[in-house]
Amino acid sequence: MLNFATQIAREAGNLLVQRLGVAKITIKGDINLVTEADIAAENLIIERIRSYHPQHGILAEESGEAILVGGKRSDWKWIIDPLDGTTNYAHGYPCFCVSIALEHNEELEVGVVYDPMRDEMFAAERGQGATLNDRRIRVSPVEELNRAMLCTGFPYNVRERPDFARDFTNFTMSAQAVRRDGSAALDLAYVACGRFDGFWEDGLSPWDIAAGALLISEARGRVTNFQNEPLNIYTEKVLASNGLVHDAMLKLLQ
Ligand code: IPD
Ligand code: CA
Ligand code: CA
Repeated sequence: MLNFATQIAREAGNLLVQRLGVAKITIKGDINLVTEADIAAENLIIERIRSYHPQHGILAEESGEAILVGGKRSDWKWIIDPLDGTTNYAHGYPCFCVSIALEHNEELEVGVVYDPMRDEMFAAERGQGATLNDRRIRVSPVEELNRAMLCTGFPYNVRERPDFARDFTNFTMSAQAVRRDGSAALDLAYVACGRFDGFWEDGLSPWDIAAGALLISEARGRVTNFQNEPLNIYTEKVLASNGLVHDAMLKLLQ
């Protein structure tokens, strides 16, 4: 399954690169966009899953949850963000990825995040560790917030969430640096490989989180909600870290 997931993530990523700068953009909400490339990449991924695993369930950002033929429920569910970082993509800012995860009986089994601009494939399988382009990755050893490079994201309804600015200020004042890259799945992959020491965001969806959460737990990091409860990918608040700065980050979020 991991090989299959990396293969389709690579194919979808290549499609995104081919259409960069030419894909038509549509406004979805106040500041929320979708491009022809989001749709084309999602269709490609779903088509491959339907051909090779027709009995599997699918939850994809642009088309929602697919009902299987005959209304049957599957133990397997693919969770797909065909283009994470759409706003970046629409502006030609080269920070976006494809995120694909596979759940079995509601447990994450496989997660891949592919950055086609850097040709970086982050991959994890439950119990087997996490890799970046086939080399083993681990979270960072940074212990203090003061030495930590953190990342966050702004959800599309940020204008309705005044808490967000308070958290952003608190982290900026306490960490070595705070970044906002615009692709939550890639941000989580960067925590897994030690480029970031921690990440928080309120307002995420399962397709933003699923693959990255498995990458981090397989890279020996920690992923919870803002109450320090084990992460459920169907909730919006995500705190991810190398484990060592987790408690300090939790404190700032209270
Ligand atoms: C968005 C990105 C962004 C995050 C938003 C997400 P999209 O996903 O991951 O970094 O801050 O909350 O919705 O729309 O580009 O797939
Ligand atoms: Ca997304
Ligand atoms: Ca998306």
